[in-house]
Amino acid sequence: MNLVKSKQRVADHGEVFTPSWMVEAILDLVKDESERIDSRFLEPACGSGNFLIQVLRRKLAAVEIKFGKSEFEKRHYTLLALMCIYGIELLEDNIAECRANILEIVADYLHLDESDDLYRAASYVLSQNLVHGDALTMRTSDRQPISFAEWGYVGKGKFQRRDFRFDILTHSSAFGEEGTLFAHLGKHEIFTPTKTYPPLTMAELAAALSAASKEAS
Ligand SMILES: C[S@@+](CC[C@H](N)C(=O)[O-])C[C@H]1O[C@@H](n2cnc3c(N)ncnc32)[C@H](O)[C@@H]1O
Repeated sequence: MNLVKSKQRVADHGEVFTPSWMVEAILDLVKDESERIDSRFLEPACGSGNFLIQVLRRKLAAVEIKFGKSEFEKRHYTLLALMCIYGIELLEDNIAECRANILEIVADYLHLDESDDLYRAASYVLSQNLVHGDALTMRTSDRQPISFAEWGYVGKGKFQRRDFRFDILTHSSAFGEEGTLFAHLGKHEIFTPTKTYPPLTMAELAAALSAASKEAS
């Protein structure tokens, strides 16, 4: 595996990818969390996904052990595992690679093709969770504040979604401190979503991908 794409990119963006042995060693430091299906991981400089890929593999191993015998549960908990992985990446080619690499893992695991609702729902979730943007300014590539969806599986094939602003979440430790930007906000405001959705099925998430592509074109 190539750890560097070009000297220029290393100089401009500090782009050096982490070898898989090192990723595994780091994830072993949080072994239990990395093997839990619904633990949430954010990689704020995710590159092409070297950490997120291994986190997903560990989660899918847990899905197989717990739900391997039921196709319905396996499909839904695979999507939940994916929903708990988040990334931000400055460079457009890297974020595209990251989304594609992760989608491929899901597709290989469940033998999906593009016509499957789960494939399209996964693709939609990746478009929401893996953000092309700047983790330092906390803005997307089109200068909007970064928002993350908090997903949950409520059972019977339905997922819940609530959106939160990244800058508000990350400054939560400063809440209440005198003189800080967020001091005027109460604790309840940190956990107030900017948007709450009605429970969504896999088919509805798949349809959201088509709607988003139409909007973009
Ligand atoms: C050292 S590489 C690590 C990539 C990946 N985490 C890995 O371990 O293989 C750093 C990555 O962060 C990206 N990056 C640099 N500045 C960033 C920023 N302000 N916000 C988001 N990503 C950034 C670079 O484009 C590069 O892909």
